[in-house]
Amino acid sequence: MMKATLLFLLGLLLLNGAQASTSSEKKEQNERKIEELISKMTLQEKLGQMSQFDPGQLGRPEEAKQAIRDGKVGSILNLVGAREVNELQKVAVEESRLGIPLVIARDVIHGYRTIMPIPLGLTAGWNAELAEKAMAVAAEEAAAEGIHWTFAPMIDISRDPRWGRIAESSGEDTYLTSVMAKAMIKGFQGDDLSAPNTIAACAKHFVGYGAAEGGRDYNTTLIPEVQLRNDYLPPFQVAADAGVATFMSAFNDLNGVPASGNEFTLKQILRKEWNYNGMVVSDWASITEMIAHGFAANSKEAAEKALKAGIDMEMATSTYVDHVQALLDEGTIDLATIDEYVANILRLKLDLGLFDKPYTDESAAAKSILSEKNLQIAKEAASESFVLLQNKNELLPLSNDLSSVAVIGPLADAPHDQMGTWVFDGKKENTITPLTALKEMLGADQVNFARGLKISRTKTTEGFAEAVEAAKKSDVVLLFLGEESILSGEAHSLANLNLQGAQSELLEAVAETGKPVVLVIMAGRQLTIQKELAKADAVLYAWHPGTMGGPALADMLFGKTTPSGKLPVTFPKTVGQIPIYYNHKNTGRPADYQQWTDINKIPAEATQHSLGNTSHYLDAGFEPLFPFGFGLSYTTFEYSDLKLSSKTMGKDGAIEVSVNLKNTGKFEGAEVVQLYIR
Ligand code: NOJ
Repeated sequence: MMKATLLFLLGLLLLNGAQASTSSEKKEQNERKIEELISKMTLQEKLGQMSQFDPGQLGRPEEAKQAIRDGKVGSILNLVGAREVNELQKVAVEESRLGIPLVIARDVIHGYRTIMPIPLGLTAGWNAELAEKAMAVAAEEAAAEGIHWTFAPMIDISRDPRWGRIAESSGEDTYLTSVMAKAMIKGFQGDDLSAPNTIAACAKHFVGYGAAEGGRDYNTTLIPEVQLRNDYLPPFQVAADAGVATFMSAFNDLNGVPASGNEFTLKQILRKEWNYNGMVVSDWASITEMIAHGFAANSKEAAEKALKAGIDMEMATSTYVDHVQALLDEGTIDLATIDEYVANILRLKLDLGLFDKPYTDESAAAKSILSEKNLQIAKEAASESFVLLQNKNELLPLSNDLSSVAVIGPLADAPHDQMGTWVFDGKKENTITPLTALKEMLGADQVNFARGLKISRTKTTEGFAEAVEAAKKSDVVLLFLGEESILSGEAHSLANLNLQGAQSELLEAVAETGKPVVLVIMAGRQLTIQKELAKADAVLYAWHPGTMGGPALADMLFGKTTPSGKLPVTFPKTVGQIPIYYNHKNTGRPADYQQWTDINKIPAEATQHSLGNTSHYLDAGFEPLFPFGFGLSYTTFEYSDLKLSSKTMGKDGAIEVSVNLKNTGKFEGAEVVQLYIR
């Protein structure tokens, strides 16, 4: 199980190969327009197109307008609101010399106002069609607020839960990440980038960012080329083939060369091998950060290296504006390169239809934001993201005949935290928590609520007495633990993955009442919960489930839905096992139980080789807490009649595999069929 390669997912995964198509006539017309514009542009206007700024960097509103009027800004990130965007767009289109529209970007990572589960959770649904729908909701809402371009999906292979950004990823597997990448891109971009409800996507972070040494964000990465090509690059190639409009270069240095100045990855692989002709943006200040990396002596050299690597647009810094003239004068770079990069940017704007329709309909937001349809999709996505890890004595689903339930814990009613990381525009007022949903479902009188701990990091136990009281007077305890959203995401790495604060002690205290305990964990990553499994009867992993997390959980706890989520990451027992992922190589001495002695059973003065010589930890063994792909259901499935179309690989390199799947349990349910080869 640990040594296999995930080959194919059946069941819930539906792939759709359709792509945005622009007629060749339209393409030619666009190319002519690009040529014509470039022939009229001054160098300053070209560099303006290649620059993206946050409004805060452009000064007071009048100064920002003047910069746009002067053609010094090609793109703005972090400006929202149809009216606000239209106001600046008007200056670009009607008052700048060439009338080139701005392209407005935003991190719409897992929803705009209707917040979907964090991407790691969305991926736990193993449902590409649903991921596509969820991102289409995000696109529709964002587009209605004037956004043309999102910096998503994040498709960095992530095998280290210490890394806070694992929350934004699709986890550890290359194939699953690739499937999700394609689906999310389709969701954002639809079939037509110029439609009013689609936005450009961005494959990020190119490349290797998820391999940050020690899981510490921004840290250096060392990835041998064979592993880069096998594990880290394929999702990006899938994204390029799926027509993702843009790529973002990463912060990290890769094998000693920062990703934003890396000619091997950006030029050789992306442009030459994959023929990618979309636009490449740097990550925020990642060009100037090449100085801190020790790769460029100053900002001029940083600009030179980014240009030589092929970064079309610079995010948040101005090395291009400041130094390109000098670099041209010296002959370090040539004007044709600049023109090529400007063309890539103008092409994006043309594909987005911004020249024809630069303005956002100011009445659109009211119709789409938090619409019934969007909330329903968010609920479905949350529901499919939940992974049932343990269900002793079939405690779940709970019976509707219970007379009362205790709802306890710092995450039971944490509308902000349940949205997860990267939520610029989600509002806690719109979030429905488990407490609210359970009260609504069962009636407020049936629910005995006690927070127990103020937040996940609270160490004082003064709320325990009330929590124990609530448990005692209820039939069952629903305990909501986990981590606050701020503990995951960018720059939020952790060295310890146990439950924070006194959460474990809270579990112990309520478990001591003897009442059955359902533990629901909301978190941005897999936490080390071995100890807690022993104390709780049922454990449901809910990630950070977003706006509709509460109702989705209430339904699942009471059996209106059946869990079908499967882990997109391996759960370690302890941090010391990291990196631990399912498709690790065998080693020449694979571990086995015959040759492993629990550390507590090693005799005193045992001789060096008496314990065997295999690849394991004396104190943690060699298995994870839960493997990749794991997830229980309320119902049971029987697999039968496994058939291979042939025992040897045909000329086309394919073997067809089929299996009969039968629901043999008491509940309706969905199953993800997983096939592993090695
Ligand atoms: C830095 C992050 O690494 C990137 O993912 C994000 O899109 C940009 N900032 C813009 O906010």
